[in-house]
Amino acid sequence: GQEKGFLQCFSSHLEQSNQTSQVLITRNSSDYSSVWKSSIRNARFLNTSTPNLPRFIITPFHVSHIQSAVICSREYGLQIRVRSGGHDYEGLSYVGEADVPFLVIDLFNLRSISVDIENESAWVESEKSKLYGFPAGSCSTVGVGGHISGGGFGTIFRKYGLAADNVIDAKIVDVNGKILCRKTMGKDLFWAIRGGGGASFGVIFSWRLRLVPVPSTLTLFRVRYTLEQGASRLLQKWQTIGNELNEDLFIHAVLEVTDAKTVRVSFVSLYLGGTKNLIPLMQESFPELGLMSENCTEMDWIQSVLYFAGFSTHDSLEVLLDRTTQFKGFFKAKSDYVEEPISETGLDGLYKRLLEEKTSYLILTPYGGKMSEISDTEIPFPHRIGNLYKIQYMVTWNIEDESAKHTGWIRRLYEYMKPYASKAPRAAYLGYRDLDLGRNKNGNTSYAQANIWGLKYFKKNFRRLVQVKTAVDPGNFFWNEQSVPVFPLK
Ligand code: FDA
Repeated sequence: GQEKGFLQCFSSHLEQSNQTSQVLITRNSSDYSSVWKSSIRNARFLNTSTPNLPRFIITPFHVSHIQSAVICSREYGLQIRVRSGGHDYEGLSYVGEADVPFLVIDLFNLRSISVDIENESAWVESEKSKLYGFPAGSCSTVGVGGHISGGGFGTIFRKYGLAADNVIDAKIVDVNGKILCRKTMGKDLFWAIRGGGGASFGVIFSWRLRLVPVPSTLTLFRVRYTLEQGASRLLQKWQTIGNELNEDLFIHAVLEVTDAKTVRVSFVSLYLGGTKNLIPLMQESFPELGLMSENCTEMDWIQSVLYFAGFSTHDSLEVLLDRTTQFKGFFKAKSDYVEEPISETGLDGLYKRLLEEKTSYLILTPYGGKMSEISDTEIPFPHRIGNLYKIQYMVTWNIEDESAKHTGWIRRLYEYMKPYASKAPRAAYLGYRDLDLGRNKNGNTSYAQANIWGLKYFKKNFRRLVQVKTAVDPGNFFWNEQSVPVFPLK
């Protein structure tokens, strides 16, 4: 009855435009499976025998389709999952809880971008590939829905802050099916959706973003050292200076296991300027790395975007618009923030564990710069001053039967890292969602329970997020395994 009721409701809403078949995909539609799978990035959630598949997939061309989907889902008790780029690390944008009927609103048809150079801003709909001069993440297929609403950092975030820090306006469909913009949603909701995760609050269908200036010449380098070549000493030094570097200079460290069974540390950098200025800067701040001009390649901003997205800088820009060229194996990730340099012994234990798992890697992203200047309550994203760097732990694999082995390994590594990570709370990045940190069960988790993971992602901002959520969606219609809960009715 629920599904039939929804179908009737939705069709009657769309009757005038007569577009139902294109906008609504049912389980019987021939393209159901291909559309559902289209943007899935993690094969852990590709198993089609799962009982947790959506009843319907709605692919709006127009905001009225989103409004109808919200109104009818509420009326007929279907849960909503919103998907932009489908990159959620735990599949929350397209997989549901068993026994909870739901539909997916997939925003892939809403991907237009209009850039207003004079006002240095751009309106983007929910799926995009890459904007010129916008401080967002390095992966080219990431969707702007989850990415911006969850924070969103990239190679120029030490100079310009997060994607969420550069939002000027947003348009959202709320729980009543109403369209709200910055002015009409009020400052609390506008605060919440910039870093608090969009999924708890509604369906964001457009962002107005501040574009930032980038110089015409940028310099990129990647230098790699194995443990035998002294990588550990360099990493120890990097830990103390990565966050203090000039904000035009971003150097992240990638730790991985080589075929020769050693750990290799790659220092990969983007500098907002030419080699001529970079070399003296490096000699002053990180001479141990021995950077020479031969290690450097000058390029423009969009080529650097290609590089950090894993393409060749000579590739056509078209690859950035292609949503299919992505790793589709299995993966599990976790994150930590580091406030004190990890000791040599600590690092030695880390290398030992990495060597047990040859398809693992770690990305250490330096903080500091603009990230230390923005207050930790400005938006819900709280990881600002005091952080040296963030760690992303990652393990990938290709055989489903090995899932338990690899997830077991990364959980043990996370346990090992406890003494070296931030404490009270042990903080985590929402963009690297990790359900090991805790989860809502069927949408009725108490504030106290949700606090366990809420504090890790949002620290003291979690309470305000719960207040905003209680005000805008008191019935907790928009919920998922890690959505913001509501305070109980008094
Ligand atoms: P997806 O569509 O899966 O949505 C994620 C969450 O947001 C879900 O809960 C979903 O319901 C909700 N949501 C999506 N669209 C919404 C909307 N329009 N309105 C309301 N809620 C919405 N991060 C980073 O900061 N820097 C980086 O460089 C990278 N790099 C990177 C590479 C790769 C390969 C992956 C898989 C991921 C990253 N990330 C990242 C993490 C990324 O920012 C994170 O996974 C985002 O949530 C992805 O946003 P999508 O819209 O693609 O995800």
